[in-house]
Amino acid sequence: MSETVSLNSLLTALRAAAEATRLRLLAILARNELTVTELTRIMGQSQPRISRHLKLMCEAHLLHRHQEGSWVLYGIADSGPAAHIVQELISLLPDEDHEMDRDAQRLQSIQREHMRAATAYFEENARAWDDIRKLYVAEVEVEKAMLLAIDDMEVSYLLDLGTGTGRVLEIFSPSIQRGLGIDLSREMLAVARSKLESSNITNCQVRYGNIYGLAVDSGSVDVVTIHHVLHFLDDPAAVIKEAVRTLKSGGRVLIVDFAPHHVETLREVHAHRRLGFSDDEVNTWLHRAGAKSLALHHLSTKQSDAADQLVVTLWVGQTH
Ligand SMILES: C[S@@+](CC[C@H](N)C(=O)[O-])C[C@H]1O[C@@H](n2cnc3c(N)ncnc32)[C@H](O)[C@@H]1O
Repeated sequence: MSETVSLNSLLTALRAAAEATRLRLLAILARNELTVTELTRIMGQSQPRISRHLKLMCEAHLLHRHQEGSWVLYGIADSGPAAHIVQELISLLPDEDHEMDRDAQRLQSIQREHMRAATAYFEENARAWDDIRKLYVAEVEVEKAMLLAIDDMEVSYLLDLGTGTGRVLEIFSPSIQRGLGIDLSREMLAVARSKLESSNITNCQVRYGNIYGLAVDSGSVDVVTIHHVLHFLDDPAAVIKEAVRTLKSGGRVLIVDFAPHHVETLREVHAHRRLGFSDDEVNTWLHRAGAKSLALHHLSTKQSDAADQLVVTLWVGQTH
């Protein structure tokens, strides 16, 4: 174990973990933060039972819970007295186990449902997306800040993850040699292609692909942009890790997303999974992926259609 823990913390953590369902919960939460409803579906047990297990493990500091609007998300504790213990426990879980394999399959089917819902949303809204985005994103300021974040760099290759209608490629195209946008929605890609063509942008292309597993060589990219994509994802940390993998040494990743907010309609109407991210949350993911946080900007709030103030954050990470 890499860090000393008190005997008391160790005993509390071990007692809390020493039960079959709770070990299965640790295994599944090591893959993804989830709500109690989703965990209930995966484990095939009643909600009160799962809630009891979760409460016990939260009290033992094995798990953390955070409230986001009407949802509560559970995840593995990444700080606190049991953070190291829980990582050790997870590493001891067997690679093959019938029940845990079945849990993992159910998790995958839930993740596929989320992806299908988001894809269906973008299929329906592809043509209107540029107008929808303007309703709640402080565009001009954000775009200016993104351009400034790389104005001291020579960018030969920029990758835009979840490129949608290709807006980020459009604004960066004069400042880069080559750009590639990746997206899972064929409808969004069709709009992006016709936009790039009509704007006569020849140094950027878009391609169908899943940003969880990029067909891009490690260490080959100067800049990765992730603009208003993380809040749709089940596992944003995995995409940041994948983005950092593709970066050259000294390369930068520019992440734009909402600060924590309570505009529940974005979840209900616009297929968002997460209601924003804290500065620390994204910076921790950057550090774990092997990048340092270079800069952080909170950009002007804009009156949204939901009559609430949304703050947009730009996180700039850099590889060593
Ligand atoms: C809100 S749009 C943002 C588009 C663009 N970055 C912008 O700011 O206008 C999010 C985009 O991410 C894409 N997306 C979501 N999950 C994805 C995944 N796993 N792989 C590739 N694209 C994904 C969606 O299809 C959608 O086009």
